[in-house]
Amino acid sequence: MEKEKVTIIHNLDELHLFSCMIFGEVNDTERDSAGIILLSGDLGAGKTAFAKELADCLHIKEEITSPTFVIQKEYDIHNPKSSFRKLIHIDAYRLERKEELEYLGWGDLIRNPENLILIEWPEKVEGIKIPHAFILHFEIIEGDKRKITRDQMKK
Ligand SMILES: Nc1ncnc2c1ncn2[C@@H]1O[C@H](COP(=O)(O)OP(=O)(O)OP(=O)(O)O)[C@@H](O)[C@H]1O
Ligand SMILES: [Mg+2]
Repeated sequence: MEKEKVTIIHNLDELHLFSCMIFGEVNDTERDSAGIILLSGDLGAGKTAFAKELADCLHIKEEITSPTFVIQKEYDIHNPKSSFRKLIHIDAYRLERKEELEYLGWGDLIRNPENLILIEWPEKVEGIKIPHAFILHFEIIEGDKRKITRDQMKK
């Protein structure tokens, strides 16, 4: 783990800027497998909101809804500035074991460097194979104010 970084954001506009910045970093980080961002934090902390803002940065026009009931949703990325071609949004909240995600084709997903994978509730699939990931932990301070702590998981 690298030294953790803390960011305080006050509203959704700042979340938008933050998500664009994180996208830029993930996009620019050299990789030979998928880009992965783990989103942790309590119910309502802002994990799905982050996914929506990140999709907005990529000019994805489809509406990003919480994938809780379908576990996984995929969106095509057409933005020429992106080295990723697909955004894959996973909500592991309803999973009991990491094997459930493995049955959904996790191995193929992580092998493809054109995939950008966001996972809400990564704690639910602890121990699953992750080549390298950015980790964001969301906490509600009060109202629209959030504390976001960043770590980076090394290979
Ligand atoms: N600064 C902010 N950052 C994130 N979300 C915010 C912020 N201000 C307000 N919100 C609102 O807080 C709510 C966060 O809900 P969201 O669905 O993103 O939570 P979640 O972490 O995905 O929860 P769950 O674990 O239930 O999936 C949204 O309604 C969002 O609009
Ligand atoms: Mg959510």
